Amino acid sequence: MTSYNHDQVLSHWENNEVESMYDKTLLSAEIELIRNRILESSKILDAGCGEGEGTLAYAAIPHVQIHAADFSETRLQKAKDRLRGHDNVLFKKVDFVNDYKLDHDYDFVVCQRFLINITDWEIQKKILLNLMSLLKQGGKLIMLEGYVQGVDALNEIRAEWGLPDIPVQWHNLFFDDNKLLPFMKQQGFSLIEEDGLGTYFLLTRGIRPTLQDNLNWDSPFNKAAATNAVKDMLGFRDKFSRLKLWLFEK
Ligand SMILES: C[S@@+](CC[C@H](N)C(=O)[O-])C[C@H]1O[C@@H](n2cnc3c(N)ncnc32)[C@H](O)[C@@H]1O
Repeated sequence: MTSYNHDQVLSHWENNEVESMYDKTLLSAEIELIRNRILESSKILDAGCGEGEGTLAYAAIPHVQIHAADFSETRLQKAKDRLRGHDNVLFKKVDFVNDYKLDHDYDFVVCQRFLINITDWEIQKKILLNLMSLLKQGGKLIMLEGYVQGVDALNEIRAEWGLPDIPVQWHNLFFDDNKLLPFMKQQGFSLIEEDGLGTYFLLTRGIRPTLQDNLNWDSPFNKAAATNAVKDMLGFRDKFSRLKLWLFEK
């Protein structure tokens, strides 16, 4: 997918029935990966916060202040409901494709499966630069986004085991390391860290489907696959991981 249909993507997220991540074990693992990198007393922008599942976890980090931004009223309302009573979170209706006003002194900008919704690399680059401009000097962008090389590695091993490809959804464009890394380097931003959930993806989207047809997300197998013990033992990080964490410093 190379073209970007903004209005179609917006109406997808305005649909009350849509959930950003149906695999809640994966969602918790994503949130953990991000939360571990955020320092106490930080000012954070949660860009494309959705219904605030991540925001809720980040809001519990001591003394943080969060601006949670999204372009969908439906998502923002769900996030507001979820975070009622958390007075360290301010909600902002922002369309990152258009003009907007936000602060320029964030310690962290978090993008959790947000930028993949901008299905055009040229626009993704523009938004990346705008997000970096909102960080204070030394501030960090934490991207947990779709990853082309992870999709390919997972699909290759699935093919060896007789399983069909898992496609990328119509409203997503995943990041290619061969484009993202040179672009960020050229713009003067340092790549500090890379990580992923490769162990979880390999076990739940590679091995488990060879054994079982009913792939209910809420299974003891998936919960075991997400534990730190298994993660550390197999240590696949971004290999086989459809989602990768990149941490860039301004
Ligand atoms: C896959 S959801 C992720 C939500 C949340 N970050 C999470 O990880 O659960 C993507 C979110 O990005 C938002 N989004 C997509 N395009 C946007 C844009 N141009 N400006 C602001 N938000 C946008 C959507 O409304 C949606 O809430």
